[in-house]
Amino acid sequence: MASSSSSRPAMAALVMAALLCLQLTGGATAQLCEDYYDYTCPDAYNIVKRVLIQAHKSDVRIYASLIRLHFHDCFVQGCDGSLLLDGVRGVINSEKGAPPNNGSARGFPVVDAVKAALENSCPGVVSCADILALAAEISVELSGGPRWGVLLGRLDSKTANFASASNLPSPFDNLTVLEKKFKDVGLNNVDLVALSGAHTFGRVQCQFVTDRLYNFSGTNRPDPTLDPAYRAFLSRRCPLNGIPSALNDLDPTTPDTFDKNYYNNLEANRGFLNSDQELKSAPLAQGVTAPIVDRFASSQAAFFARFAQSMINMGNISPTTDPSKGEIRKNCRKVNGS
Ligand code: HEM
Ligand SMILES: *[C@@H]1O[C@H](CO)[C@@H](O)[C@H](O)[C@H]1NC(C)=O
Ligand SMILES: *[C@@H]1O[C@H](CO)[C@@H](O)[C@H](O)[C@H]1NC(C)=O
Ligand SMILES: *[C@@H]1O[C@H](CO)[C@@H](O)[C@H](O)[C@H]1NC(C)=O
Repeated sequence: MASSSSSRPAMAALVMAALLCLQLTGGATAQLCEDYYDYTCPDAYNIVKRVLIQAHKSDVRIYASLIRLHFHDCFVQGCDGSLLLDGVRGVINSEKGAPPNNGSARGFPVVDAVKAALENSCPGVVSCADILALAAEISVELSGGPRWGVLLGRLDSKTANFASASNLPSPFDNLTVLEKKFKDVGLNNVDLVALSGAHTFGRVQCQFVTDRLYNFSGTNRPDPTLDPAYRAFLSRRCPLNGIPSALNDLDPTTPDTFDKNYYNNLEANRGFLNSDQELKSAPLAQGVTAPIVDRFASSQAAFFARFAQSMINMGNISPTTDPSKGEIRKNCRKVNGS
């Protein structure tokens, strides 16, 4: 009794929102749309924004951390909140434990706070996958970057995929591998270069650059593409046998601002990660990704416009919209009823 009376309004909301989206897209297959919550949770965007601004007061890094969660969610069985599920022995092998996330992905308590605020205003309506998409846009906007209309209507998964999370793009990947990992989720080279521009803010641990400083590709030499002054700077911050988790700015010029400086850093051979500098300096980048880096380095407007488009493209990776395959989680960490 109690469960049917609490689930009926939520189900009605789901159907209403779905109808609205279908009307607007005019198709039979459910697609994401900007106004998905306009009738069911009209204040969703502002509620998310309020919680993020509050969190940022005690954590300047949180905006960067949150956009990264959306990336790590979308690349693993689509944007379905699978990243947010905690482990349950024998049932959920949490993606949070996969190497690209373990000791690295952060911001989960803030996602919980957003979810709690939304449940308070519109219970059972806004998915955790959509929370990550909204938080990503708001984080960029509040850091000085572009705005875009976030497409909404994703449902949350009931499963996680540890193996796929372990295969996320790696900082040690070369351009060929990066291109393939993006292509595998339907993203092209322009998306790869534009989305990598998110490394214009946030932090990165020393362990991801030590090989470039001391033993690149097993040569016992530094990465020859790394600017010598920047190498000296990073060597002081990340000494050999230093603390692997020590933090650095991904963009030391403007560490917390969303701007085009990431690309200017690449032009100066000051990319932090191997995967960053590859976009400009790999032999295979010439005539392919390097000209895109050049274009964004010379025009912030071009970068911002394309970043917004590429974020929409990334947000469109295999969304779950079929109510028989997904749900609106009440707690982003747990499948409903578990
Ligand atoms: C192209 C392939 C990519 C690779 C190999 C990569 C790798 C990494 C690594 C290793 C870190 C540092 C993690 C740590 O030290 O704990 C990082 C941080 C970050 N990444 Fe990426 N990344 C990629 C693409 C992206 C994309 C597509 C986005 C978002 C659109 C993104 C946003 C971020 C942000 C904002 C941070 C800083 C997070 C924080 O301060 O908490 N990255 N990335
Ligand atoms: C995550 O890292 C911690 C600390 O390094 C380690 O104890 C734990 O086993 C790791 N989790 C998984 C699932 O590998
Ligand atoms: C890129 O890395 C892959 C996997 O390690 C390797 O097979 C390939 O030869 C590399 N390509 C280049 C151009 O270095
Ligand atoms: C450098 O890397 C190579 C290959 O990974 C490894 O065999 C060698 O021991 C490393 N050198 C040092 C000084 O760690």
